[in-house]
Amino acid sequence: MPGLLSSPVCLTVIWFLSWSLCSSRAQIRTDEVPDVQYKTLGSNVTLTCGKSQNRLPVVWHLNNSSVLPWHRVTPDGELILPQVDRSAQGDYSCYDTEGRLLHTVTLRLGHRPGLLSISCRVPNHTHVRCSWVEPAKMYLPVSYNATFKNGAEWRPCVVDAARRHCDVDELAFWQPMHTLIVTAFNDFGSSKTTIRIKLHELLKPDPPESVKVEELEDFPQRLLVSWSFPSSWPVEDAFPLMFHIRYRPQGSVYWSEIYTEESSFVILDALAGHLHQVQVRARDEVNSESRWSDWSQLLLVKPWEVYATADPTEESEYFFPFDTKPETSTEKSHNPIQGDEGNLGLVILLVLFSVVILTTILSLIFVMWMRQRRRDQATKQELTSMVKMKSMPI
Ligand SMILES: *[C@@H]1O[C@H](CO)[C@@H](O)[C@H](O)[C@H]1NC(C)=O
Ligand SMILES: *[C@@H]1O[C@H](CO)[C@@H](O)[C@H](O)[C@H]1NC(C)=O
Ligand SMILES: *[C@@H]1O[C@H](CO)[C@@H](O)[C@H](O)[C@H]1NC(C)=O
Ligand SMILES: *[C@@H]1O[C@H](CO)[C@@H](O)[C@H](O)[C@H]1NC(C)=O
Ligand SMILES: *[C@@H]1O[C@H](CO)[C@@H](O)[C@H](O)[C@H]1NC(C)=O
Repeated sequence: MPGLLSSPVCLTVIWFLSWSLCSSRAQIRTDEVPDVQYKTLGSNVTLTCGKSQNRLPVVWHLNNSSVLPWHRVTPDGELILPQVDRSAQGDYSCYDTEGRLLHTVTLRLGHRPGLLSISCRVPNHTHVRCSWVEPAKMYLPVSYNATFKNGAEWRPCVVDAARRHCDVDELAFWQPMHTLIVTAFNDFGSSKTTIRIKLHELLKPDPPESVKVEELEDFPQRLLVSWSFPSSWPVEDAFPLMFHIRYRPQGSVYWSEIYTEESSFVILDALAGHLHQVQVRARDEVNSESRWSDWSQLLLVKPWEVYATADPTEESEYFFPFDTKPETSTEKSHNPIQGDEGNLGLVILLVLFSVVILTTILSLIFVMWMRQRRRDQATKQELTSMVKMKSMPI
């Protein structure tokens, strides 16, 4: 058999047959109107063989091949494809028993657009961008039309169909509520999605830009953080921004946080010799219902060091106990100092006291000694005078 099939005679016959088949198809096709049918994926599809029911029975082909997906042909010549999937797409042709093409249908499968899920971003007071995602893959190009109710007037929201978003400028920001309607349509049908948004609550600046963290020479515990306004934010005094800085030594769980309206900040309590993580974000300063921007990219910087080549682990061992023990060490040193002071006072008091007592005793002794001396002198004088008197001739 394989020999027979590949024989030149057989090939010639096959070529002739297919050529005649094609030419006969081509002949009939000229008076056919191209027929395209859009059907929903998963549905039961019925294809009819044109208006040529009189030439029954018919044979169906897909993409010029007799191999068809799971199907059934009715006595009327209709082709029924149950619960079609993507593989059922293509050109379906029906032929009569003599191999003549009767009709061709192109079957396209997909979905009608469903309700979109829409979210909006408001990077400043004059601009809103709303983006959406389809609930399911469409398989066919979808077009969109979007309108935005800005105060009392409806305005187009300018659509980028490929990126699935639309933009509106010059917003009436003071209005409490705005409405957006996005219509999605393809060959299967259309859907309309309406959302109501509050711009002042959606206001979320872009993250601060050009964020830099620098060491400060001679200051091993300082870091200079600087940044600029997001370029999408008008740098006018009418719209001030509040900035939120957070930093921590790498590996630490806890952030230190600072809020400022300036565009730079000096961290004074960095851990010397350690890499620090630093981030900045921004929010409208006046509107407290608005949102914080995303954090800027995480930056890693080490404060200035005396010995650039020093082993950082050594320093960390030195600094950790220093930083964690100040309370206990001051407590410990506090009591002894107080005790010393007390003792000194006592000693001074005792010394003074003994000096006073000693002085008193000495002066008492001195006084008594003086009295005794006087008394002695007096008796001596008496005696001498008595002797004198006795020796005097009476
Ligand atoms: C499609 O046909 C199957 C039988 O082939 C039937 O069970 C099913 O309910 C039909 N589905 C629809 C959507 O008509
Ligand atoms: C089927 O054959 C016709 C005629 O040769 C050709 O024009 C058409 O492109 C073919 N279709 C497919 C899907 O190959
Ligand atoms: C038939 O051809 C179309 C393109 O013309 C292709 O998308 C489809 O997958 C083909 N179907 C089969 C079953 O080969
Ligand atoms: C989009 O919607 C607007 C307003 O509803 C309408 O005037 C316009 O014709 C629509 N455009 C398309 C392409 O459907
Ligand atoms: C507001 O943001 C948009 C989008 O980033 C930008 O194109 C526009 O210039 C910004 N407006 C102002 C006033 O900066």
